[in-house]
Amino acid sequence: MVLGLGPAKTTSATTQVTRARNWSFDSWRAKPIHQAPIYNDQKALAAAEERLRRYPPLVFAGEARRLTAGLARVVEGKAFLLQGGDCAESFAEFSANNIRDTFRVLLQMAVVLTYGAGLPVVKLGRMAGQFAKPRSAPTEKIGDVELPAYRGDIVNGFDFEPASRQPDPERMVQAYNQSAATLNLLRAFAQGGYADLHQVHRWTLGFVANSPAGERYKDLANRLDETLAFMAACGLTSETTPQIAETDFFTSHEALLLPYEQCLTRVDSTTGDWYDCSAHLLWIGDRTRQLDGAHVEFLRGVRNPLGFKAGPSLTVDEFIRLLDVLNPDNTPGRITVISRMGAGNVLGKLPGLVRAAKREGRAVLWACDPMHGNTIKSANGYKTRRFDQILSEVHDFFSVHRAEGTHAGGVHFEMTGQEVTECVGGAQAITEEGLADRYHTHCDPRLNASQALELAFLIAEHLKAERLDVERKTVAVGGM
Ligand code: PEP
Ligand code: CO
Repeated sequence: MVLGLGPAKTTSATTQVTRARNWSFDSWRAKPIHQAPIYNDQKALAAAEERLRRYPPLVFAGEARRLTAGLARVVEGKAFLLQGGDCAESFAEFSANNIRDTFRVLLQMAVVLTYGAGLPVVKLGRMAGQFAKPRSAPTEKIGDVELPAYRGDIVNGFDFEPASRQPDPERMVQAYNQSAATLNLLRAFAQGGYADLHQVHRWTLGFVANSPAGERYKDLANRLDETLAFMAACGLTSETTPQIAETDFFTSHEALLLPYEQCLTRVDSTTGDWYDCSAHLLWIGDRTRQLDGAHVEFLRGVRNPLGFKAGPSLTVDEFIRLLDVLNPDNTPGRITVISRMGAGNVLGKLPGLVRAAKREGRAVLWACDPMHGNTIKSANGYKTRRFDQILSEVHDFFSVHRAEGTHAGGVHFEMTGQEVTECVGGAQAITEEGLADRYHTHCDPRLNASQALELAFLIAEHLKAERLDVERKTVAVGGM
């Protein structure tokens, strides 16, 4: 059964698709651009770009194609997408422990989802390249001092000092190096035994173990142990079945800083197509998705799977035109639409988009980002998000898809393996006063490990309900 796809002809993820017309890897430079830093030293910029162009790609075209194929299975309703990680990676918080802890929470969430929903989970980190940030204002003012806004460590420094806030192109080189080292570790974790399902108990972080979500996870992990023992008795072990011992893990980030993305864009020698080799999937943010803008121009020409954010201002007409430009062949898995309407807006805004895609037979993977439409300021001045608002957006996203008969394909979170106090609520009942305890983010508030796990259990229940719906319909059709 094909969910979320109408009758129109689609191109399979593996067939050759037409190349973007009138595109070159720098054609974006002639288009209006938003959210771009202004580099004062053009010579230094050219030198940094020159170095990056010579550096090796971080990912390979074949991997990006494999991700497209995995996402195409999500579009069909046969898998689920879990995308998560930092709002902004930083140079200061770069450490093996941070990478490992975020990775293990993603693994835990994936196990909860796979077990609960009976669906394979495509794992996609907001990691190894998620540095550049769009800002609501170009400058920040504290007292009488006004400085350029912080745009992520790949652009300028977080400290509120004139020198630090000056965009520095050398930072692109540092971000590349950090991304390479992060990806290296992630590949080792994913393929080298850490992600073996026999390790499910060991992924739990100390501070999560006694939380309600931690207890629930322990229960599930015990059941998984029994299942693995049964499978081993049938001859299916880590040695005989690689799927038990290792996992596929992909990377993604917002393709915001186009000089950096251009430098890592290369021709794939197998197909002759262009790929942005800075990550497997790139997405366009809600503030840079203008149809005639530089970001859409750049991404339409690379063959990676792409995402774009769909905020409440996106009209049905713009939505369809974005699909025309970014996915003219209607290849399943090419486009993930990341809905981030804000709790309270989903029921009003999302059905129109879902119906338009169905009507026109567009292959769309629907994902829910319940973070970016729900950012508020606490009474004591912290940028935060309320856990119940996040839950409410996820809940409404699933109910829209249930009502429309389409597959709620995935979720997109800002989370960390650290025990931060950045989002209020959850079973630990973090209060606004409690935010001050461990508020570490450089940008947006993230879910901590227990909150992320709690959310995974809720989503698993929604997916189970969706599966039962589909099974009931199949039985009803079969019985006619
Ligand atoms: C983000 O994902 O970090 C982000 C800035 O999102 P959006 O473009 O949806 O605001
Ligand atoms: Co963010």
